[in-house]
Amino acid sequence: MSDPIPRIEKKIFAFAFAGCLFLMGLIAYAAFKLGIGVPGCVPSNDALMKPDFITHSDRQYEVHFSAYMWNFQPNHIELPTGSTLDIYLTSKDVVHGFYIKNTNVNLMAVPGVLANEKVTFSKPGTYEIFCHEYCGSAHHNMMAVIEVKDNIQTAKAAGLPQDALATAANSADGSVLSEAAQKGMKLATEKGCMACHSVDGTRVVGPSFKGIYMKQEALTDGSTITVDDAYLKESIKDPDAKVAQGYNKGLMPKLPLSEEEINLVIEWIKTVK
Ligand code: CUA
Repeated sequence: MSDPIPRIEKKIFAFAFAGCLFLMGLIAYAAFKLGIGVPGCVPSNDALMKPDFITHSDRQYEVHFSAYMWNFQPNHIELPTGSTLDIYLTSKDVVHGFYIKNTNVNLMAVPGVLANEKVTFSKPGTYEIFCHEYCGSAHHNMMAVIEVKDNIQTAKAAGLPQDALATAANSADGSVLSEAAQKGMKLATEKGCMACHSVDGTRVVGPSFKGIYMKQEALTDGSTITVDDAYLKESIKDPDAKVAQGYNKGLMPKLPLSEEEINLVIEWIKTVK
């Protein structure tokens, strides 16, 4: 009886099998010899999800990036050449992309999930970070920068929420905040308000607090309202009651704040000009 498989097919099988072994060999080479791996996910962790920049030593830094429509916090980092950056990344709203130009770092910023990657910058230069996942009308503006420099000794980061808070704490005329406003600011920070409301006019998930008090605000139902104490109070207690135009219902949680605490937060919001 003749062989049921033609010789040419056997050759094709052998060739395909050898090809598979070769590609598996390349994967093993990349993983074990070159140390290239798939970016890791780490279990969600509140401390790592807050935007932050931590110095471990002169060449070891850790950054917690928070992506949101349409920016990153922090959004400007300076590093001495040769620094290693341990990156943790999450999103405050929708899925964003995170690509650092001229590096292998290409991550997804997913709400509630932490991505982790380490990168060493051995050459000086400007490394732009882009969002490469379409995330809304200003997606093309969503970028940050890492500057790697020879002539600096330690790193610094800008664009963190606490930078803006420190600026806001000193009102424009240089006067110091009242005790009530200071307590309000502390509460707003602790209760997480600053994750969604900026104090420098930047649009985040909700309207910025900058200059919001007594502002005329257009609402989703087409009417206009003055942002006075009553409106702020209602919006904190029942966020979906009257939503400002351009923002979405259902995003702001009802916070467990007492009447007194709400008044303190409002006292502080009044000072954010
Ligand atoms: Cu974020 Cu595109």
